[in-house]
Formats: sequence, C-alpha cells, structure tokens
Amino acid sequence: MITLALSKGRIFEETLPLLAAAGIEVTEDPEKSRKLILPTSRPDVRVVLVRASDVPTYVQYGGADLGVTGLDVLLEHGSEGLYQPLDLRIAQCRLSVAVRADYDYAHAVRQGARLAVATKYLGLAREFFARKGVHVDLIKLYGSMELAPLTGLADAIVDLVSTGNTLRANHLVEVERIMDISARLVVNQAALKLKREPIRRIVDAFASALPQN
Ligand code: ATP
Ligand code: PRP
Ligand code: MG
Repeated sequence: MITLALSKGRIFEETLPLLAAAGIEVTEDPEKSRKLILPTSRPDVRVVLVRASDVPTYVQYGGADLGVTGLDVLLEHGSEGLYQPLDLRIAQCRLSVAVRADYDYAHAVRQGARLAVATKYLGLAREFFARKGVHVDLIKLYGSMELAPLTGLADAIVDLVSTGNTLRANHLVEVERIMDISARLVVNQAALKLKREPIRRIVDAFASALPQN
C-alpha cells in the first residue's frame, strides 16, 4: 500500500491532474465527505487528508509514504528524513513582507527601528530579517496575517502573496519579496528504499505530467 498525504483545497485540487497522469483517480470528494482516508482507483494507493502544515510531519515519520507540500511549509518545518524529488510547480506564490500603504518601511529600516512583524513563518521571517540586519519582534499568528498591521498588532507581516488581491483589499503593499514558492513532492526516505518501484513509478508519472519549460 502507498499512502499519499495531501491537504484539502488548492494542494488537493492542483495535485489531481498529476495523479490522473499516474493513472490514479481519487474516488471520493474531500469537500463532500468527512472521511480522512480516501480510496483511489488503484487498490494499492490511498490518500490521507491532513492540515497543510502537517504534511511534512506525516511523511517524515512514515504516516504517509509521500506527500505534497508548499516550499514555505517545508522550509519552516525542516526537511530532515525527506527526499524531495520534484518541484511540482503548482500552488505558485511568493513569500513577501507587506506593510500598511501609509507606513514608510524603507525609512524605518534605514533608521534601524525595531519592527513588530506578524507571521506564521517564524523561522523564515527570523532568518530573512537577521540576514538584512533588521531587528524584529516576531508575533506568531495562525492566519489572517493581513489584519495585524490594520489593527496595530504589527508594523509588518510576512505572508504569501499570489495575485495581490488580499493585500489590495486590505490597503497593504508588498515591500520585499523573500522567495518564490511552489509545491514540492516529498518522500519518506525509508519508504523509498522499501517500496522503491511503486514510488518511482508515481514520481516518474508526476514528472512527465508537469508542464514543460
Ligand atoms: P490551513 O488552511 O490548514 O491553515 P493553509 O492556509 O496553509 O492551511 P492552503 O491555503 O491550502 O493551506 O495552502 C497550502 C499551500 O499552498 C501553502 O503552503 C502555499 O505553498 C500555497 N499557497 C497558499 N496560498 C496560496 C495562494 N494564494 N496562491 C497560490 N498558492 C498558495
Ligand atoms: C493565502 C495567503 C494570502 C492569500 C494571498 O490565503 O495566506 O492571504 O492567499 O493570495 P492573493 O495574493 O492571490 O490574494 P488563502 O487563500 O489560502 O486563505 P486562508 O489560508 O486564510 O484560508
Ligand atoms: Mg491558506
């Protein structure tokens, strides 16, 4: 049995075509079912639904043989015990710093001000500002980061940006692009040894289904 960890929403939706290319069809809709283990058209393959931030944990400890996770989540979690054979080029976005449109970020940085930064990416934010030599007080949030500068909770946020619609809707502006993000296939290293052939076939099918460029 091969177990693939996915999170509901965009990762699940955008992985479906890749699974189809590997001849795997998920036979139940996660938005309609309360089931957390979904069967597929292949009796030897199942999908487990986990929180996006739990995918690396499941794969690392062997709760799943492979999984699809954002690079943001993977870097924040750490990649110990995880083989990363493919950039799937789905769920593309970027990790950025944003502030209120009326906040002079460049000035604050030049002045050596201490910035209050709200984010769910404490590790990535700490590393980014340390490299820049900017002192920060990090505030851990689990969502709705865009609200933090609007309510006075923080001067800046570190969050994902794709179309920029969420920033615009909340009168925030992007002031730094930290890194480009896309979803990665991650594989448990022990599973790769024990189930090499079936895993290799899935990885190869995913690879050939990726848009060329
Ligand atoms: P949860 O809902 O459990 O808090 P989440 O918000 O991290 O989790 P998703 O929004 O499905 O879950 O994000 C999963 C991954 O998709 C992220 O880790 C990131 O790599 C990518 N992603 C997030 N937001 C966007 C976006 N707006 N556009 C493209 N990709 C995105
Ligand atoms: C993500 C991210 C941003 C938004 C950016 O939220 O946390 O808020 O997308 O995308 P945009 O630039 O295209 O507006 P998501 O849609 O995943 O909502 P949630 O995680 O808060 O449920
Ligand atoms: Mg999200």
